[in-house]
Amino acid sequence: MDSSIKVAVIGAGTMGSGIAQVAAQAGHNVVLFDTRLEAVDKALAGLRMTLDKLVEKGKLTAGQADRIHGRITPASDLMDLAGSGLVIEAIIEDLGIKQRLFSELEGIVATDAILATNTSSLSVTAIAGGLKHPERMVGLHFFNPAPLLPLVEVVPGLATDEALAPRMMALMQAWGKTPVVCKDTPGFIVNRVARPFYGEAIRIYEEGIADMPTIDAAMKSAGFKMGPFELMDLIGNDINFTVTKTVWEAFFYDQRYKPSFTQQRQVESGRLGRKSGRGYYSYDANGAVIAPSSRTSAGSLAEDPAGTRGKTAGSLRASGDPAEVSQMIVERILAMLINEAADAVFWQVASATDIDLAMTKGVNYPKGLLAWAGEKGAGHWLGVLERLQAIYGEDRYRPSPQLRRMARM
Ligand SMILES: NC(=O)c1ccc[n+]([C@@H]2O[C@H](COP(=O)([O-])OP(=O)(O)OC[C@H]3O[C@@H](n4cnc5c(N)ncnc54)[C@H](O)[C@@H]3O)[C@@H](O)[C@H]2O)c1
Repeated sequence: MDSSIKVAVIGAGTMGSGIAQVAAQAGHNVVLFDTRLEAVDKALAGLRMTLDKLVEKGKLTAGQADRIHGRITPASDLMDLAGSGLVIEAIIEDLGIKQRLFSELEGIVATDAILATNTSSLSVTAIAGGLKHPERMVGLHFFNPAPLLPLVEVVPGLATDEALAPRMMALMQAWGKTPVVCKDTPGFIVNRVARPFYGEAIRIYEEGIADMPTIDAAMKSAGFKMGPFELMDLIGNDINFTVTKTVWEAFFYDQRYKPSFTQQRQVESGRLGRKSGRGYYSYDANGAVIAPSSRTSAGSLAEDPAGTRGKTAGSLRASGDPAEVSQMIVERILAMLINEAADAVFWQVASATDIDLAMTKGVNYPKGLLAWAGEKGAGHWLGVLERLQAIYGEDRYRPSPQLRRMARM
């Protein structure tokens, strides 16, 4: 598929505006449509500012910036998308609304036009379910911010033509992206494998083993750019909670993905994170952290001077000594992440190489989890999980058959 193909992007919000920029930078003419025309205007004004900054930094010439901007045409009617060869949908995450949009589109675009969805958590197969020609539908899951993060998960649905995923892989490479192909399963790769980064951190906090800044500091000492609570505040606690709930429900309520009351209460109280000025931390008008939000830090080690709760989880031998607590936090969260990555391999969601690529290129993990597992040996991580499972007696900590297999190798 060459750059003469016209690309349509539907939804001019956070993701659609970024995807339109990526396609225009790759040389495509782009039509940008949104039910709210002001969203398209805002996206084009935002793109102008972004491109001007790139010119200031010397990354683009003024002429290149003008040409990129000039390739994006606003559309006020779905009919304006008629000549597009590829349509990428980035509208509200609602199955019924997406299905209706694609049904309508089928009557507008040519029969050989490719239909792609940027859904994060819905099934591509379900979105294509109402189409007359579901074989031309595929998932193209970009990450936020789309112009900066290289990863794109290419997700064929059950009815997708077999030739389509390789075509999209090639196109995404031509757009300068790092595509990985993955099965149409809940959360695809990243939103599935990353769940314990948040879920296990909250669990450690809820058990009173450590407070949020301690957990964040521990994970940063392991090489993560942000701690789990800092990152949840950045993503938005409402969005993170919705993804957690959606993945848990989509896995038929598997205990491993169970959401937490801590997360739910944050959302209920409107503490959505940076965007509302308060989440797990409080922020001043400039976005600087003032302090952990009051109450959310209840249950810290400070209220458990003997460190007995730390000891219980000890299991992983935490003594209350800060260095040991930090190590225990990292081991517990990493063990859960590695187990999740191994399980995704076991269920053939994607190859081990692509899973490691996805976590480093989509969410900036310092290392691929499966490569990381190899440093101490899979047997080490299996041991951590077996101890957790023995202590808690919960299915949540069941080791993946793939981790056992890796430990035997
Ligand atoms: N924000 C992220 O980090 C992220 C990352 C990857 C994927 N996604 C997915 O991308 C999609 C869009 O997310 P977003 O964060 O950009 O949302 P957003 O709210 O920023 O933008 C959505 C836009 O779609 C428009 N819209 C809603 N219904 C429409 C319709 N029927 N027709 C045309 N336009 C319509 C809205 O007016 C809005 O401008 C969702 O499916 C989301 O799950 C989001």
